[in-house]
Amino acid sequence: MCANEVLGFQEAAMNISLIDTGMIKRHESAFSRKASKAKYFRFEMKFMRADSVPDLMSLQSVIAANLPCPEIFMLHNEKYLREAFQLERSVIGITTEEGLIAYSIIRIPGLSDDNLGGDINLPQEELPKVAHLQAAAVHPAYRGNGLQRKLAAAHLRVIMDLGYEHVCCTVSPKNPISLRNILSCGLMIEGLRPNMNGWWRYILHKNILHANLIDREGSVDRDISEAVQESESYRNEIKILISDIEGQLELLKIGFKGNKVAFVPEGAEVFYTKFQL
Ligand SMILES: CC(C)(COP(=O)(O)OP(=O)(O)OC[C@H]1O[C@@H](n2cnc3c(N)ncnc32)[C@H](O)[C@@H]1OP(=O)(O)O)[C@@H](O)C(=O)NCCC(=O)NCCS
Repeated sequence: MCANEVLGFQEAAMNISLIDTGMIKRHESAFSRKASKAKYFRFEMKFMRADSVPDLMSLQSVIAANLPCPEIFMLHNEKYLREAFQLERSVIGITTEEGLIAYSIIRIPGLSDDNLGGDINLPQEELPKVAHLQAAAVHPAYRGNGLQRKLAAAHLRVIMDLGYEHVCCTVSPKNPISLRNILSCGLMIEGLRPNMNGWWRYILHKNILHANLIDREGSVDRDISEAVQESESYRNEIKILISDIEGQLELLKIGFKGNKVAFVPEGAEVFYTKFQL
């Protein structure tokens, strides 16, 4: 049984930092996972304290060393990670007996230039209501346990609880696994632009208040993108290769939003839909 079934999410957040616990598989080799045997470890998902910055830095180094290309994941320096703790419940970590193996960070951009609401033309008065899913990563040996999705679901509940209305995040078109996980939490692709390094980034967004597809307990564990597709508002679907940047820019310009990824022999396809709400 998971911890928040016993405690309730808010109680877990306020009284003790434990959010969830259970068993996950660890591959013996992070690099040849198909051939390697998996072992099972108990995990704990918790709100982290500021004294865990060194653990975040060392996990980030492992993540960086295993990236297929540097542009899919923006690395953060120690100062940035320390500042992340200024907001309550902003850093969630997952530990096993081996230490920290995954994390998620949220950030409130306020009226700063990097508020992603500005990139998708949210009205000026909406910008103070934006929260960012800023970063998430999982140790290579523990991938395939759905931990990014678990972390995002927990942080979406924190964001709702703190009273923010919009959730935004960026994902690289070279990172279809992360894109699929974020879309499955109900965010949709509403923008696509290069960041300051010239690396392309999707801008994903969800209005939490309008997202009445989330059930009353605030659970986002089920696949919301599937629920959206079954709903009345689902119209005009177009699929396009994830590598076709120009084509996707065109679709976004005429009002389509991306809401699903499928893996095909050529790579990955993104499904864009024109919603008539
Ligand atoms: C993106 C990331 C957090 C996803 O990790 P995760 O939550 O463990 O991923 P999932 O459980 O959804 O994995 C689904 C499948 O994809 C595989 N997978 C996950 N990440 C992978 C990667 N980076 N490369 C290749 N395969 C990967 C998993 O093994 C699993 O395969 P399986 O079903 O055959 O077991 C992780 O890949 C990561 O930390 N990447 C580097 C940092 C990053 O990109 N962060 C997100 C920035 S927006």
